[in-house]
Amino acid sequence: MGLLSGKTALITGAARGIGKAIALKYASEGCNIAFTDLNICEETEQEIAALGVKAKSYASNAADFAQTEEVVKAVKEEFGSIDILVNNAGITKDGLMLRMTEQQWDAVIAVNLKSAFNFIHACVPVMMRQRGGSIINMASVVGVHGNAGQANYAASKAGLIALAKSIAQEMGPKGIRANAIAPGFIETAMTAALPEDIRKEWCNKIPLRRGGQVEDIANVATFLASDMSSYVSGQVIQVDGGMNM
Ligand code: NAI
Repeated sequence: MGLLSGKTALITGAARGIGKAIALKYASEGCNIAFTDLNICEETEQEIAALGVKAKSYASNAADFAQTEEVVKAVKEEFGSIDILVNNAGITKDGLMLRMTEQQWDAVIAVNLKSAFNFIHACVPVMMRQRGGSIINMASVVGVHGNAGQANYAASKAGLIALAKSIAQEMGPKGIRANAIAPGFIETAMTAALPEDIRKEWCNKIPLRRGGQVEDIANVATFLASDMSSYVSGQVIQVDGGMNM
């Protein structure tokens, strides 16, 4: 029996990167996986299904309220329950405040923060009927500390933390837990795009002297999804190699 046997997880933006690693880890613990991304990703779907669970890829823009309602309805119909929601979809559009455009601000807030509202709003009634659920928001250490050149991204991630804490208070009496993970510097496509000198600077600030792997995040996400964390709610767990920015 896996830690998540018989449960269904809905993970946003899971075609690749951290979301995909979470999907694979959950599947290895017996969890059925519904995941979204901007496009259907059959390759990831097959990789997950190869672990012996039910897996389905959905195309949906997480920032779109109506599309989210539709996709959550379809997942409920297909899988029967939604026990775990991971709000993972995210983007960056970095720039110093003086040069940041309204479009850069709006896009990051919509994809990173409004998306979580959309999915929580659609999933909470399902979880209430089931009398339980675990919601995990993928924040960032910059949502805790701030970061020059990422005001939009840091604000969206701080919002995800406050959203998880608020939902934990509002929904706790219904058996629904909500937490946030704040990854530090994790080696994915998102961070591969950074210039080499910035990557080196980041690594020098990390006491464990390495970037995190996607599996480091997936392990903590598994703890928060499982009954191992049944008395943990409203928390933000930094997974950052001990970094104090
Ligand atoms: P990634 O860029 O590799 O993957 C993000 C996925 O989200 C992609 O598959 C992308 O297509 C999807 N996506 C983007 N916009 C979407 C939308 N509107 N609707 C649905 N899907 C959408 O990024 P990575 O590194 O795997 O990051 C995952 C999450 O972890 C993000 O929320 C990111 O902000 C957060 N994070 C990542 C860190 C890192 O060092 N890589 C550090 C801290 C947080």
